[in-house]
Amino acid sequence: MDEAKVGALSKRIMGIYEGALVSGMVYLGDEMGLYRAMHEQGSLTSEQVATRAGLHERFVREWLSLQAAAGLIEYQGDGLFYLSPEAGLLLAEEDDLRSMARWFDNFPQRTALLSEIPRSFKTGIGISWSDVERGGTSGRVQWMERLLRPWYEQVLVQTVLPELDGLIDSLNAGSRVADVGCGSGVAVVTMAAAFPESEFYGWEIAPLALDRCRENAIQAGVTNAIFHDVRQQKLPEDGSFELVTTFDCVHDMTSPDELATAIYNSMTPDGRWLIVDPTSKGTLEENIEMPLAVFGYAASVAGCLQSAMSEPNGAGHGVFGLPAPAMQELTEKAGFTRFRQLDIAHAMNSYYEVRP
Ligand SMILES: C[S@@+](CC[C@H](N)C(=O)[O-])C[C@H]1O[C@@H](n2cnc3c(N)ncnc32)[C@H](O)[C@@H]1O
Repeated sequence: MDEAKVGALSKRIMGIYEGALVSGMVYLGDEMGLYRAMHEQGSLTSEQVATRAGLHERFVREWLSLQAAAGLIEYQGDGLFYLSPEAGLLLAEEDDLRSMARWFDNFPQRTALLSEIPRSFKTGIGISWSDVERGGTSGRVQWMERLLRPWYEQVLVQTVLPELDGLIDSLNAGSRVADVGCGSGVAVVTMAAAFPESEFYGWEIAPLALDRCRENAIQAGVTNAIFHDVRQQKLPEDGSFELVTTFDCVHDMTSPDELATAIYNSMTPDGRWLIVDPTSKGTLEENIEMPLAVFGYAASVAGCLQSAMSEPNGAGHGVFGLPAPAMQELTEKAGFTRFRQLDIAHAMNSYYEVRP
């Protein structure tokens, strides 16, 4: 037994446990508006923070002490706490692409789901996104929406779509666009608002996500966005779509092969499929060295692999199961002949343009 190794590992394990506890505390701070109450306010006493947030001082003081111990809020002595501008950007701002409080949004639901996951390990059948909702953990729809909204609203139309030659012109002139696995519909609604001459259709399997899609369309006042439940209405394989998008969901599908074939058949002869899916290096050795490896594998066990194994013989790719060569092979099997990785930097995802 290497005692030094035991010591180092026990420190690491305790750090992991502390991380989970602090995650819960960050969730509480976001949920109760504590970071926002401190943002751009300079040094504050616990009484001042409690008054601004409308909360009881004693609990707020303990929470502030934890935040100071965790290094998120600075303790300046004399009972004064300070949320730096940098911490405020990350924990109190909503729309900045770098803001991070939203990551913690569904922490309680994620934790609650842990009691159901052992069943998947025993049976080999995962929990589909729609079953997650039935289990009362619908927070994942709002979480994912909050997580991805800034990217859809600030990057998709401005930076990603122009990378596809001539696409902006055809969307301005009027095209048919499908987004499969559309989640809460923010991508569809954002594109529909930007290109009023085009028609946008979203396909989803999770009913609560579909409800949210329709709410988002109404709130944005767009009338050119329509949403379908894939279980009731499949993607029409009628060669009519000039653009099909899949954002972060090919790896979630039980049958990505069927998806690729349906998309191929749904598309005009010169249409294009924009795939955004997690970057994978191809081997475990390389994947575990990636900066977001821990997050990715954890998200996979608890969510993406669950979805991809939610039917017998599900493909079960998992978050890192589709590196670029595997994605290319998948599309070529469906009939696509042109595969191009786009030169867009992203912490987690790769971008591909695929054409018949
Ligand atoms: C990681 S989420 C991404 C959602 C959305 N594209 C976004 O970026 O917010 C994957 C989505 O794929 C959906 N999904 C899984 N299997 C599906 C299927 N067979 N058909 C349509 N949607 C599916 C899930 O319900 C989930 O909303």
